[in-house]
Amino acid sequence: MADSIAREVPRRRTFAIIAHPDAGKTTLTEKLLLFGGAIQLAGEVKAKKDKIQTRSDWMKIERERGISVVTSVMTFEYGDHIFNLLDTPGHEDFADDTYRTLSAVDSAVMVIDAAKGIEPRTLKLFEVCRLRDIPIVTFVNKMDREARDPFDILDEIEQKLALDTAPITWPIGSGKNFSGTFHLADSAVRGSDSEEHRTKVNGARSDLVAGRLPENEREAFAEGLELAQEACRPFDLAAFREGHLTPVFWGSALRNFGVRDLIEALGDVGPAPRAQEADTRKVEATEEKMTSFVFKIQANMDPNHRDRIAFVRVCSGTLERGMKAKLVRTGKPMSLSAPQFFFARSRITADEAYAGDVVGIPNHGTLRIGDTLTEGEELLFRGVPNFAPEILRRVRLGDAMKAKKLKEALQQMAEEGVVQLFSPEDGSPAIVGVVGALQLDVLKERLAAEYQLPVDFEVARFSVCRWISADSRMELQRFIESHRGDIARDLDEDPVFLAQHEFSLNYEAERWKDIRFAAIKDYQ
Ligand code: G4P
Repeated sequence: MADSIAREVPRRRTFAIIAHPDAGKTTLTEKLLLFGGAIQLAGEVKAKKDKIQTRSDWMKIERERGISVVTSVMTFEYGDHIFNLLDTPGHEDFADDTYRTLSAVDSAVMVIDAAKGIEPRTLKLFEVCRLRDIPIVTFVNKMDREARDPFDILDEIEQKLALDTAPITWPIGSGKNFSGTFHLADSAVRGSDSEEHRTKVNGARSDLVAGRLPENEREAFAEGLELAQEACRPFDLAAFREGHLTPVFWGSALRNFGVRDLIEALGDVGPAPRAQEADTRKVEATEEKMTSFVFKIQANMDPNHRDRIAFVRVCSGTLERGMKAKLVRTGKPMSLSAPQFFFARSRITADEAYAGDVVGIPNHGTLRIGDTLTEGEELLFRGVPNFAPEILRRVRLGDAMKAKKLKEALQQMAEEGVVQLFSPEDGSPAIVGVVGALQLDVLKERLAAEYQLPVDFEVARFSVCRWISADSRMELQRFIESHRGDIARDLDEDPVFLAQHEFSLNYEAERWKDIRFAAIKDYQ
């Protein structure tokens, strides 16, 4: 193994933050970046987002609705570690974007509002992490406001998520009296995040612990803390790495409590880049040859140049500027002449990237979501998921002369993952599929702004879509032939069955036992 790989890979921590909207994801992101010196002043993440938005017309939708459509990556350093934080859109209509991003991380921080506990979107995102055995670190935020009892919150995590909890710290008070965190195993205390080191103390009743609280709260607090020390599960690294146990931290991102505890833990116990499953074998992060996959495409980072940036997660080896990679889907070589790293403030040319890193590769449509790049090896990473759309629409074009242009535009949008595109076998107009209705708004805006194609959407006669496959090709063919009017092909030419409703899908599934109807397809 090259020395640089042996040195660099174990330093990487690539993670995402999952949270229900309003739990404090943006605020926490800002504070983490501040620690990493990536930004000078809190508030810049939001400001920066606003700036990017005003540059691009179609993002008006986002601004008007106050939601974040853009997924981005932010790299920062703290201590000996390099952190790659992959941001995800908060709105559930862009959930498939979030799921794709989660395929590129090694761990996730789950932010919970201390008053609200586990909310619906937290639960949903947690389930996606569990499917992939992604280790989860929990941050209970907003302890500076009226909060639920810590034991209550731990209990809720265990019950609702069927996940063991191991509090690493314990909150000292809550609401206006919240005044720091106590490290259970080390018996050490930290007030606000401005304290770089914890101070060792002599138990819960010490002046530096209970003594921080008003007198009438001290006894109850000390009893609670002693109970936590005795009764809570100790941290188990193996169980955490396997996704069965979550270490829990408490704090207030807004008031600068507990964020340093969190970032230190991500460095100490957070997983380094993990081995990735490909179709032919498992690829270790420390292998010498470069492998990587595309999990996101972002168009219009710079509207003057109509560029597309493919976000690539490096899985092994060193991705070097100027190297020739093989795009496995087409078998063609591709020159990586200007890979880029992203920071909160800027993007810079990446000379070398290692496993765990995310680089942006500018291109004009060569790369698609799910693509694998290697140094020549024929292997495909699996696991960037494609979810069956929940809304299907035909695109209606005012000007029939522009049908060809529309076809090309839809193809591009589908390659970027804005929508899914299905071409019916019977030759009727294409059908677009989305997970959330806002995706249709984005499609409409972008077709108008970038392609001068004003379109409307018509309800299709289908409402359910499933990828079909079978062990026997003949059986699959037989099914396709006897359902011609209900079959379409996706972007990769894979067949899907379009059903009018769930009932007709179940009916067919009953009759055709050897056909598999899948609601999730991995790209490629
Ligand atoms: P999100 O990205 O998860 O949607 O949440 P965001 O960070 O935007 O936070 C949502 C609201 O909660 C914001 O208030 C934010 O200031 C507040 N907040 C975040 N962390 C904490 C915390 O630890 N304690 C307290 N008390 N509040 C917190 P807002 O008024 O909706 O927005 P803003 O005008 O302050 O930006």
